[in-house]
This record gives sequence, C-alpha cells and structure tokens, in this order.
Amino acid sequence: MNIKQMATACCMLGGALLAAAPVNTVKVQDAAKPSRYNPMIFGSFLEHFDNQVYGGVYDPQSKFADEDGFRKDVLAVLKKIQMPIIRWPGGCFVSAYHWQDGVGPNRESTYDKAWFVEEPNTFGTDEYVKWCRKLGCEPYICTNAGTGTPEEMSDWVEYCNQTVGKFARMRAKNGHKEPYGVKYWSVGNENWGGHETGAKTVEEWGPLVRESSKMIRAVDVKTKLLAAATTNERWTLPLLQNAGYLLDYVCIHHYAQILARDYRPFNYWDSILRCDDADRNIDAVRRILDKARLGGGRVKIAYDEWNLRGWHHPWHGDFRRGMDVAARRKNDTASTYTMADAVYTACQLNAFLRNSDLVDIACFAPVVNTTGLVFVHPEGVLTRTTYHVFDLYVNELLPFRLSVGQTGEVLQGGRLQTRVFDAVVTCDEQKTRFALAVVNKSPDKATPVTIDFASLGKPAPATVKAKVLTGDSPDAFNTIENPDRVHIETATLAVKDGTVEIPAHTVAILYVE
Ligand code: AHR
Repeated sequence: MNIKQMATACCMLGGALLAAAPVNTVKVQDAAKPSRYNPMIFGSFLEHFDNQVYGGVYDPQSKFADEDGFRKDVLAVLKKIQMPIIRWPGGCFVSAYHWQDGVGPNRESTYDKAWFVEEPNTFGTDEYVKWCRKLGCEPYICTNAGTGTPEEMSDWVEYCNQTVGKFARMRAKNGHKEPYGVKYWSVGNENWGGHETGAKTVEEWGPLVRESSKMIRAVDVKTKLLAAATTNERWTLPLLQNAGYLLDYVCIHHYAQILARDYRPFNYWDSILRCDDADRNIDAVRRILDKARLGGGRVKIAYDEWNLRGWHHPWHGDFRRGMDVAARRKNDTASTYTMADAVYTACQLNAFLRNSDLVDIACFAPVVNTTGLVFVHPEGVLTRTTYHVFDLYVNELLPFRLSVGQTGEVLQGGRLQTRVFDAVVTCDEQKTRFALAVVNKSPDKATPVTIDFASLGKPAPATVKAKVLTGDSPDAFNTIENPDRVHIETATLAVKDGTVEIPAHTVAILYVE
C-alpha cells in the first residue's frame, strides 16, 4: 500500500469512526426522577389592547356570540388546548386602569392612557371571571401599580374574594353573590420601564410591592402573590429584599424582537438564533433568587408575557408623537407567523419544562389577535403555527419530565448561536411510557438525533410513532383562505441504531411505549 492509499484508508477510517460517533445526542441523566411540571406553563394573556378583548374574545354582535357576548368559537378553540390560566387586563393597559370603572350597571367609557383609545368598560372583572369559568381556566389578575394604590389593589381583591365589606357587597349587588376566589394576583406590570404609566424607581418599587402585598394578603391570605421583575439584579434583588418574604412569584417578560415601532419581523434564521432566550433569562433570575436566599422554589418564576414577536404599536412609550392606532393592523399580517414562531415557541416551552422546579406559570402573549395563538375574524378563527405547538405539547406530552443531557452541532450567526436541535423527555410516574418533544431548528436540513434509549430503560426500536408540525417551508404560515397549510401530522419515523432523522424546521413529539 503506497502513501496515497494509506492516506485514503486513514481518511476513510477516520470518516467511518467520525460517522460512528453521533454528534446530536440526548440522554436521560442517571437516576433521574420523574418531576411533575405545572401545566400552567401553557397559559396565556389577554390585554385590553386593539381587538384582543373587543372583537376578540368578546363580541356581542358576532354571529358566534353566546348569551354573554363571548365568541363560542374562540372558547372552543382555546378549550382544545386546555388553556390553564389567562392573565388580564394588562400589560401596560392596567397601569392606568381603575377596576371600579368596569363593574356595575352604570358603566361609562374611559380614556385609555396606555393605548390612547376609548375603553368602553363593557368587559370588566365580572365578564372576565365569567369568561374564565366558561373556558375552564384560572383567572390571574394584574393590578394597577402605575396610577393605582395598595388600597385600590386590595379593594379589587375584596370585590372578587371577600364575603364582607363594601366591595363584597358591591359584587353581590352586581348580581354575583358568591365570591370568585381569584387566586393569582400580580402587583404591577412593567413599572420598571419608562414606557409604563406611573413607572417606578428601584427605590420605590420594593416598598410599594411590600405594602401592596400586605394589604392584599390582609383581604385574602390565600392569594398567590406575584410582582413585576426583570432579569436585572439591580431591579429584582431590592424587590426581593423588600418584599420577597411575601411573594410567591417574580414575573418575567420577554419578546425576542421588539416590533413596537418598526415592523420588520425577523426572518426564520434570525428568529431561531434566539431560541435559548428563556433558558438564559431563567438562569439569570435563578441566580438572583439564590442571592436573595429565596431560591430552591421558595419564590418561583412566572414567565408571564413571552413571544418571539413583540406587538406593533407606534409610538408606544414616546409621549411626544402620539399613537398611530391604525398601524396596529400590521399585527394581523398572516405571513409573519411562520415555522420560525413554532420552533421558537417550542424551544421556550422546552425551557419552561426543564426548569419546572422554578417556572410554574408562563403566559404566551397574547392569546387572541395581535401576535397571538389565534386570529379572530368575522367568519371564524384562524389557528396560527404557535397554536399547533401548544396543541402538541398540551395534548401529547406526559405529566412528568426527566432531566436530560444533550450534545449537538451548533448553528452560528454573528454573536448568536444555538444547538441545532432541542429535546425534552416527559414520562408517566412509573417511567414506563415516554413522550419526547424534539425540535429541529435547521431551516433546510434534517437533523439526525441519537436517543439513548437505554437511559429510558428501553431497547432501541426500529421505528417510533410521532406527531409532527413541519410546514412545507420554514416560512410556511396559515391564512383564512389556506388555514391548514401548517397542521399536525401523524408519522412513523425510522430509528437506525438509536438515531432518528428529524425533518428540517420541525417540532416533533416521539412516543416511546
Ligand atoms: O407590547 C405590549 C406590551 O408589552 C404589554 O402591554 C406590556 O406588558 C409589554 O411591554
């Protein structure tokens, strides 16, 4: 054998050896115990913004309206994904909202200082709680810490939950004798930001949350208390030092792209490079909680506004140019919501699952219209790609998750990078059945993922049954005219030496019985 032949042989051997060493692997960690996650990570958010409430969930003139004016088709499509919790009424809207304007027989419209429009107040606390009951989800009320006071917040709790006091009597007089028992209450929205009405300084925030929490607990000691926080220690550590002893959750918001002023939605590639957002944000808050000695689940995380796409509403937060209200129609652009949204959404849900020791609540923002899961139009509802991800996760995953280790090739773009695939392993309590969520972020290549079936206590099968959301292109989207271009399909995937080929731009649920 001459030198050239030897060199060729070495390359082939090397290549063969390299081929033998799988690159993309997922393995359940040794002695991993099934950990039950809270299904409230599949929650959402309803704000008095544009047509989310009026013309969204509530439209008495619609042919789909029920006796309370709620769109029955919207209720039905949200029940299908077992919507567990809905945060309301904002968002920036709440920071100048006075809840008493929205209850009782003689309501007048008010000016909405957050979104520069008229608020009719025909959908208020009683309608919201009734809608939640019909939907079968937990109500979660965010209070006004912008122009509001601790007393106004706690009076709202009295209106909802007390049996004595003038606000409890007000509820009864309004026809709702029985207390509502609203468990989840948040002090404030993004009071840390200059865009917020009644923004607060770091020094003001902790004491305000403490005094508000004390009064809310004085009215109903069983409430679960949340407060607006950030991944920035400068804001969140003082909050925890002042009020952490009263809090159950800190609230984190994240939009991968702020589209408030310029409407140039990220393309597929720029979107998926940001798939590690939630992991990074949760790690940052975990460090702050530990530093405040409130870690280990004593105070948990409510990731209660999140989406790849921020909302378009120029010039929000500028206070010198007014608002271009008509520009909000751009949020309805169907072609914006593609497989990028599906892949990004699945990766955030995976992050909530693998951090379920801390992340107990998450609210996709918002639930209908704007950049939401569902677009509501006069003839029906359009389910966007993100809705189908929720359908897969809520209806196909199992109630426990296992800690896994993952290795894989990395996609790189400038200073951003992300592993080409992402997986979580869910199971039943006995670890006999498994449902894996595996996401292939690549825009154009199938990704071979090697699953250590032995770590599941299973022999590697020859095939796995699967449900996949893949679309015919990374830029595929649903429209009113073509509502099922992106939909869930059932598949049987070949497994070769433990390796499954996941198609490009795909969210897949693999079943291992
Ligand atoms: O763009 C909508 C806004 O995003 C919400 O009202 C607010 O909470 C967040 O800044």
